[in-house]
Amino acid sequence: MKDTIKKLVEAWGPSGYEHEVRALIREEVEGLADEIRVDPLGNLICRMGSGGTKIMIAAHMDEIGLMVTHVDDDGFLRFAPIGGLMPKALFANRVRFENGTLGTISADGTEWAKAPALDDCYIDVSTGANTDAGVGVGDPAAFWREMEVRGNRAIAKSMDDRIGCVVGIEAMRKLKRTKHEVHFVFTVQEEVGLRGARPAAFGLEPDFGISLDVTGTGDTPKGHKMDVALGKGAAIKVRDGGHIVPPFIKNLMVKRAEEAKIPYQLEVLPGGTTDAAGIQLSRAGIPSGCISIPTRYLHTVSETVDLNDVSACVKLLVAVLSKPFEA
Ligand code: CO
Ligand code: ZN
Repeated sequence: MKDTIKKLVEAWGPSGYEHEVRALIREEVEGLADEIRVDPLGNLICRMGSGGTKIMIAAHMDEIGLMVTHVDDDGFLRFAPIGGLMPKALFANRVRFENGTLGTISADGTEWAKAPALDDCYIDVSTGANTDAGVGVGDPAAFWREMEVRGNRAIAKSMDDRIGCVVGIEAMRKLKRTKHEVHFVFTVQEEVGLRGARPAAFGLEPDFGISLDVTGTGDTPKGHKMDVALGKGAAIKVRDGGHIVPPFIKNLMVKRAEEAKIPYQLEVLPGGTTDAAGIQLSRAGIPSGCISIPTRYLHTVSETVDLNDVSACVKLLVAVLSKPFEA
């Protein structure tokens, strides 16, 4: 599983530009699904089983990033955010363009004690030689950092939400057969407003939806007042900023976790949301839940997960999909 995580988190795929990630996931799931297709917006839809209760699983392939808006006379690039970029997490970090060009982010001036405004940040792609970096207005970039493993902890950019994609892939590997009709959807453009999951849910018209995504934790010094902690198991969402999980789905997940002795914790996230919110509001309403992977330092290059939690999420999803989906 670690190899799959490394491959996916190090892939390049800001919102709207998920093609590299989609190709990598396709390689992983080929042969596991009864049918694989790509819908008009680029969601990768993998069906397992047919005819039973229709369940849509969603994990997003895209990552936050930025897009060049202006190149100044000295070659410094200004940019606009793609998704929830935090200026504090940008400074002195590196980004990568699709053509491989690496950039370093800094900000105007020399007073760096405070977080700069996004408008004051720039990307330095200078090489020292008179070469053209080959990037300009309209080109997207994403954070660049290799994954590292420290004991049970894996640290990387884009755990949000490639780790959710890995949970989906591993569940497909373990599920083999299901009485339900399960559509594993690897979605596009979640970070800019659930723009892939909504049309996918409209097209699939599932009975239920489940998203696989990261959630914050409350286990760091003076951190959020939140009960989720790394290493304490799969997080079963109760609510987030855009989604109240229908109680029967939350209770079903809790029941399956207890039956199979899978460690779990309840997630109450004040802000943020996931593809499940988009699915739930699709069509005439599609009841949806979410299995979350607890993650520290979200939307930075050091998103940190516990590998035991990831395994618990895979087990929980398999347990949910292997039994009747009912109250
Ligand atoms: Co995110
Ligand atoms: Zn996410």
